[in-house]
Amino acid sequence: MAATFDISKGREQFPALQQDQVFLDNAGGSQALGTVIDSITQYLSKTNVQLGASYHTGTQSNTKYEEGYQAAAKYINAGRDEIVLGASTTQLFMNLSQAMILNPGDEIILSKMEHETNVKPWLFMAERLGLKVTWWHSDKSELKLTAENLKPLLSPKVKFVACTHVSNVLGTIHDVRAIADAVHSVGALLCVDGVSFAPHRKIDVKAFGVDFYSFSWYKVYGPHIAVLYASNAAQAHVKPMAHFFNPTKTLEDKLGFAASNYEGVQAIPSIVQYLEGSDEAITEHEGKLQKILLDFLNSRDDITVVGSTSADSKERVPTISFVVEGISPKTIVVEAEKISNYGFRWGHFYSKRLCDDVLGLGPEGVTRVSMVHYNTEEEIHGLVDVLKKVLPQRQEARQ
Ligand SMILES: Cc1ncc(COP(=O)(O)O)c(C=O)c1O
Repeated sequence: MAATFDISKGREQFPALQQDQVFLDNAGGSQALGTVIDSITQYLSKTNVQLGASYHTGTQSNTKYEEGYQAAAKYINAGRDEIVLGASTTQLFMNLSQAMILNPGDEIILSKMEHETNVKPWLFMAERLGLKVTWWHSDKSELKLTAENLKPLLSPKVKFVACTHVSNVLGTIHDVRAIADAVHSVGALLCVDGVSFAPHRKIDVKAFGVDFYSFSWYKVYGPHIAVLYASNAAQAHVKPMAHFFNPTKTLEDKLGFAASNYEGVQAIPSIVQYLEGSDEAITEHEGKLQKILLDFLNSRDDITVVGSTSADSKERVPTISFVVEGISPKTIVVEAEKISNYGFRWGHFYSKRLCDDVLGLGPEGVTRVSMVHYNTEEEIHGLVDVLKKVLPQRQEARQ
C-alpha cells in the first residue's frame, strides 16, 4: 500500500508550498491540502446552511457533515459514537475536564513532559472535584515517559493519568500501549495528547488501548479543528453537558455543544483520502530528513540535542530541538531569517514545565525545527548550510 503514496507528488498538493518559504514550524501548524481548501470553498459557496434541515440544500449539508464525522472516526479506528469534533485539543480537554465524573480524594497523575493543554484542564478538574495530583516525569538522562517510570506512582487510589504520545519539544515517541496497560492494571483511565504524533504516524486508538485521545487537524494538513476520542467504556465517567432536551448517548451528544465548525468537519474526508496508505512512505521519508539534521547537530560538541539523539523512526518523529553554546535560541532564529527563507522557531512551545522544571533551560527555551513529509532532503541540507553560517564558527567532529 505504501508504494502508492508518492512523497514528491504529495508536495504538489499543497498550494502554500509553491511559494518562496521553507516551512519548518510544522509542529506549530502544518500547511493545508489544496483539496481541503477547495472543499471548504465549495461547502461555503453551496451548502452553508444550518444542520438538521430537511430541504434539499439542508440534506446536502447534513450529509457532508456526517461524512466528516464518519471519516474521522474511521481514521482513528473509533466508533462513530466515540468521537467529538471541536475547536481545538485544548478546548476539547477543557470540555472533558468539566464533564469527568470522579470522587473527592481520588488521585490523578499528570506529567511534566506536556504541552500545557494536557495539564491545565486536569488541574481545574482536580480543584473542582477535590482530587490529589501527583507529578510524573522521567530522568533528565532518559527524557521519556515509560510504564516503568510510571509504575512506582500507581496505586488503586489513582483514577486518571494524562500523558503525551510525543512531546512537542523532544519528539520522542512514548509507548502508549505499555503505559495504558500499566494504568489499567490499577483500574485508572488514560488520557493521551496525540497532537505531536498525529502528523507523522497512523492512529489506532483501539491498538493503543487508550481511554481518551485527542489531536488537532490543523497540524495534519487540515482546518483548525480537533477530535477527541473517548471509548464507550470510558464514557461511563463522562457526564453529558447537552441541553436537557437533547440526546445524551454518543460522545458528540455529551460534549458536542452546538456542533463543530461545519466547513472544517466536512473537509476531513479530503485529509483522510490523501493520507490513505501513506504510513510507511511517510515514516521512511521523515527518517531521512531527521537523520540529515541530527547527523549535523550530533557532529558538534557545542550543540546539545534536547531529547533523543537517535534518528531511529521507532524512537522519534522529526521534531528536533537543540541548544548551542555561545548563541541563544532566539538569536539562531533571528540570524537565520536574515540570510534565508527558512521558517523555524525558538521558545518553550507551551511545554513550560518540561523546559523549566525538567530540562532547566533558560527563558528562551530551545531552537526547534519541526519537519513533516512534505519537506525535502534538499531543504534540510539547505538548513544545515544556514546553521553552519549562523552558529559559532567551530566545527570540531565528535569522535
Ligand atoms: C503537543 C501539543 N498538544 C496540544 C497542543 C494544543 O493544540 P490546540 O491548539 O489544538 O489546542 C499543541 C499545539 O501546539 C501541541 O503541540
